[in-house]
Amino acid sequence: MSDDHSEPNSEQKKFLTKLFLGQNIGFRLGVADYDGFPDENIPEICFAGRSNVGKSSLINALTNRKNLARASNTPGRTQELNYFYVGSDDLHIVDLPGYGFAQAPKSKVDFWNKLIRDYLQGRQQLRRVYILIDARHGIKDNDKEIFTMLDKIGTSYQIIFTKIDKISETALAKTLTHNQDIVQSYIACHPRILTTSSEKKIGLDMLRHEIASFIPAYCHIGAQL
Ligand code: GTP
Ligand code: MG
Repeated sequence: MSDDHSEPNSEQKKFLTKLFLGQNIGFRLGVADYDGFPDENIPEICFAGRSNVGKSSLINALTNRKNLARASNTPGRTQELNYFYVGSDDLHIVDLPGYGFAQAPKSKVDFWNKLIRDYLQGRQQLRRVYILIDARHGIKDNDKEIFTMLDKIGTSYQIIFTKIDKISETALAKTLTHNQDIVQSYIACHPRILTTSSEKKIGLDMLRHEIASFIPAYCHIGAQL
């Protein structure tokens, strides 16, 4: 894996372009129940977070596609765990339904919450959970519940602040400092908060580099030079 502040070298840049902006990307399957998960041993990362924080939009932005993942103004749009393949069998990116969305029958919401929690706790292929937080709102109590759960089982996760185009630089700096203090107390949380805007395409290269570092072939290129 790359260290925190490393930049991709020229070979890695080519790899990233081919991986995220090439043709070998698409929807693999939607998982709605426990027996639906793919068996292949392909590394995967997932985007979790409250409803409407921009999980699906970030997948579209990373892959420079308009509608690969379905994004919408209506919270609760994503209703399955959607698997996208990137670079054929190099990597899966999983778009999760948002948590905290309760405009569905309680039994359904409870089932979803349990499925997502079990996935986050038990999925062997899962290399990192990215927890997306709307930069305007910061970390909320239901985010902290997920942090605590992931800490307990030692699943590595990292925070991404989304929609940074929606707040001023000053406000962003302030909320980052405050939230950086909060994440210090969570053991399995990566200490650095990433920042992105899908709308203005900010922070995407760095995130592509971080995500690709879970692909062995990408790390080998980094180690060779
Ligand atoms: P659920 O599937 O309901 O959990 O939502 P989600 O987290 O997948 O959010 P989605 O990507 O559907 O985006 C929600 C809304 O936020 C949409 O109207 C997007 O256009 C908007 N949005 C997402 N990312 C950005 C961003 O970086 N900047 C701005 N300005 N709007 C964004
Ligand atoms: Mg979504």
